[in-house]
Amino acid sequence: MAVLDIREWGKDDVLLKVCKPVKELTPRLKTLIEDMYDTMYDADGVGLAAPQVGVLRRICVIDVGEGPVTLINPEVLETSGEQTGNEGCLSVPGKTGVVTRPNYAKVKALNEDMEEVIVEGEGLMARALLHEIDHLDGHIYTEKVEGQLYDVEDLVEEIDDDDDEE
Ligand code: NI
Repeated sequence: MAVLDIREWGKDDVLLKVCKPVKELTPRLKTLIEDMYDTMYDADGVGLAAPQVGVLRRICVIDVGEGPVTLINPEVLETSGEQTGNEGCLSVPGKTGVVTRPNYAKVKALNEDMEEVIVEGEGLMARALLHEIDHLDGHIYTEKVEGQLYDVEDLVEEIDDDDDEE
């Protein structure tokens, strides 16, 4: 059990690199997965990819409130629809931006027993799947942001201001 340091966009090039597939789930990688969950939950995130903790392996963990999902060597099989909404990333702390993504995603991956699984999701789950898999190829959501990247604090203030006017 350990909370790992989360690498930050703009400060660490590890986030821009392509990760290597996992061939064998070694005890070290199993510990990494446990630590990734600890790190994600500690930071109140809904997803975390291995490069965000400095490991260039194709592993990500997701929990959008429907329970933990571990994805090893994930591949997107299918997407459909469209959703536009705010997105954030633990590697881009305090920021948020509007990103359009498919509203549905179907992914093939290996689970922690190295068995093939199919994971599908709509809405936030689809967004999380696609965001995390992007990380494994060195892509950060900021590349896809429409308009500007906002400070989360400013956005919260705006919402507070709106409340005051009502
Ligand atoms: Ni991210």
